Amino acid sequence: MGKFYALTSDEVTSLEKENQALVRSLAGECMVVLENDGALPLGKEERTIVLYGSGARNTVKGGTGSGDVNSREVVNIYEGLKAEGFNILSDDWLDRYDKTLEDATNAYMADINEKAAKQHVPPIMIMFSTPFVAPDEELITQVKDADIAIYVISRNSGEGADRYDVKKDYELDDNEVKNIQFLAANYKKTIVLLNTGGVIDTKVLRNTDGINAVMIAGQMGNIGGNIVSDVLTGKSIPSGKLTDTWAENYSDYPSSATFSHNNGNIDDEYYTEGIYVGYRYFDTFGIKPAYSFGYGKGYTDFAYEVDDVIADEKKVYVSVTVTNTGSKYAGREVIQVYVTSPEGAIDKPFKELRGFAKTSLLGPSQKETVTIAFDTASMASYDITRASYVLEKGQYIIRVGNSCDNTRPAAVLTLDRDVVTVKCRNLFGLDEAVEEIQAPKREKEDISGLKEIALDSSKFTTSVIEYQIDRPVLEDKRSGEKLTMDDVKSGNATLKELVAQLTLEEMANLCVGLFDHSASNVVGSASGSVVGAAGETIGIPDRKIIPTVNADGPAGLRLQPHFKTTADGQVLPGGEVFGLSRNPFPDDTPADAIDYYQYCTAIPIASTLAQSWDMELIEKMGHIVGTEMQQFHVHLWLAPGMNIHRNPLCGRNFEYYSEDPLIAGSCAAADTKGVQSFAGQGTTIKHFAANSQEDNRMYNNAHISERTLREIYLKGFEIAVKDSQPLSVMTSYNLINGIHSANSKDLLQGALRDEWGFKGFVMTDWFSSQDARSIGLAPANVKYDCASSPDCIKAGNDVQMPGSKQNVDDIIKGVEDGRITLGDVQFCALNILGVVAKCE
Ligand code: BGC
Repeated sequence: MGKFYALTSDEVTSLEKENQALVRSLAGECMVVLENDGALPLGKEERTIVLYGSGARNTVKGGTGSGDVNSREVVNIYEGLKAEGFNILSDDWLDRYDKTLEDATNAYMADINEKAAKQHVPPIMIMFSTPFVAPDEELITQVKDADIAIYVISRNSGEGADRYDVKKDYELDDNEVKNIQFLAANYKKTIVLLNTGGVIDTKVLRNTDGINAVMIAGQMGNIGGNIVSDVLTGKSIPSGKLTDTWAENYSDYPSSATFSHNNGNIDDEYYTEGIYVGYRYFDTFGIKPAYSFGYGKGYTDFAYEVDDVIADEKKVYVSVTVTNTGSKYAGREVIQVYVTSPEGAIDKPFKELRGFAKTSLLGPSQKETVTIAFDTASMASYDITRASYVLEKGQYIIRVGNSCDNTRPAAVLTLDRDVVTVKCRNLFGLDEAVEEIQAPKREKEDISGLKEIALDSSKFTTSVIEYQIDRPVLEDKRSGEKLTMDDVKSGNATLKELVAQLTLEEMANLCVGLFDHSASNVVGSASGSVVGAAGETIGIPDRKIIPTVNADGPAGLRLQPHFKTTADGQVLPGGEVFGLSRNPFPDDTPADAIDYYQYCTAIPIASTLAQSWDMELIEKMGHIVGTEMQQFHVHLWLAPGMNIHRNPLCGRNFEYYSEDPLIAGSCAAADTKGVQSFAGQGTTIKHFAANSQEDNRMYNNAHISERTLREIYLKGFEIAVKDSQPLSVMTSYNLINGIHSANSKDLLQGALRDEWGFKGFVMTDWFSSQDARSIGLAPANVKYDCASSPDCIKAGNDVQMPGSKQNVDDIIKGVEDGRITLGDVQFCALNILGVVAKCE
């Protein structure tokens, strides 16, 4: 009889209620008001409306793929408004759209199923590469007896496919445009809501007269409709700010010409924009965006005054008093501190975000003083010629504002000589030349009158990284005894002593996940005690080593909400996989089958959460997930995702936080603290690193310079590791400069462990060390090969997920052939058991 932690009743639990109430009370703060002429919030008398748009009833709760959390119900925007007492006069149009949508969904699934059957792969594999596109909307032709029109634009995306710069995706499509224009021309108030996980083109929204408010509602999880209605009615106050630059034109993004499929080359991606990602590019090269990074309006206005800037060789403190200058509504303001570093031998962006703080909810005329603190050394740039992080001598201008495009200089720090803050080793040599763009020469800025603070180069300290040289073989010094994990926990043995007793076969199995070859379980369902968990590590019962259960996120905990077992505990087929992919329970399901339930909360997606700029809020969301992990016995959450939004078309941007590494790292650390406040539970920050592309996601080679990697694509991971010590890290599918991330010792040992002090274990993304082409997960005609199993071990990629017998055999053979050593395998086993020792 299998042991399950799922519930045998499908009644809504008190935990579900509590978690949803908490999400509802917080999530409105993530919404970003882009435009508002006073139309929002709606007054108490404004309850008769028309509601249109593909997202009105088909509200996207989160993206697709493994990031899609299976929840009990989804409250769409229509339902949310209805529950609030709104009288909606556009049911006829919405009903017809429902039918169109249902027909389109059925046709899509029929096509997917047919292709899957032909290719002998599960339907979800085909769905990854050919996502569903919502059908055309009917044109709105009637004007109803209401003053207010709300129009919801939705976009969806997910793993396995990048978005396109085309109508109905990045661009609005013709019918959407006509419908918005019709509403704007015929109703007193027109409000447009963006139910998207990333950037879309906003030209029409900015250039159409008669649109009174535009708000990024984001993708809010399974009670999104309630959250939207709370915000529209002013019960919740939106106080989000953009964590990405929303460009005037897609072509303004520096990687737009070559990104993914845009240039027809999905094998190689050359990061020629270097460190100039997002606002670093727009700001430095003088390209005006539609909405800048850090921008967002809320329902009221604020004024802010810098009280003081204090700095020494260790810390910079900026204190700012913020006043709500409005007369009607409360709000929260985000104060952002950017620093302009001196132009020197190292090319630099015009300014970079170094710290931020959000006020509490301030009523009209209320004030609050916030202090933003950051390490002085965090302003250093990576100098490849010295293999070091360096603060170049010169002036560091501290700028304070409430968006990237609205800052004022507040002080200037002067450094007398160059300072090496960290002495490293160059780890990431390019495999092909990448010509990076350089900043234009800056105009001289008048900084007279600013407070000046002198920093003394002789008072800084330099840390020198020691890199691991070898992994000596652990000898069994207690051979007369049979040590177990219990001995380790009681202090009778060390982990090293336990590992020294494991055979190569035992360790090779430990370093490979609990694999299951049945096709229905390809992704998303481990075969153990938690059904719908994406994977498990194996246990060694006679050593009291337990398996760890790993389940997806990031928008909540993805489990199978309803499953059935035989009376003696065998899991039966049927149930949700993710999103549209569901397998009905077959007719021959035994009558005495036992039903189990695991309903989890779908929280807002990462890109929406980040817009809160509120790390306490994100920690609370992590805590929500932690409570459900505890209930259903999940050890590792395969989240948060924290890759950089290099280009708005990356299919997984919704699972990631921002274009800026400080935001990404801070959010991931906050999420981790929430989850890891429960003993024996951890996060798995992913996808390490530079997973910026979803087309040919498993075999694309990202060519990135050492400095760009360190300052942009690795920085967030570094912050999260140092600040929150996640129990686990998942490598990305892609190659970096010709080496699979999964196989890169420089990445996993040099940067992650030696430079940042990571103490947990590393796992691969699913099937990284298996030939994904043979199981329909990757196109056949790609340039690069899959990662190698022994090289994962050599790199210190401790667990290969979900794993195969071949992976185990290859590890053993690798030792026998001398490609890897027993010490390498022991090192991985030690890392795994270090985490297992913390789990119950
Ligand atoms: C995704 C991972 C996920 C894993 C397990 C992969 O396809 O890239 O993010 O955690 O599947 O579901």
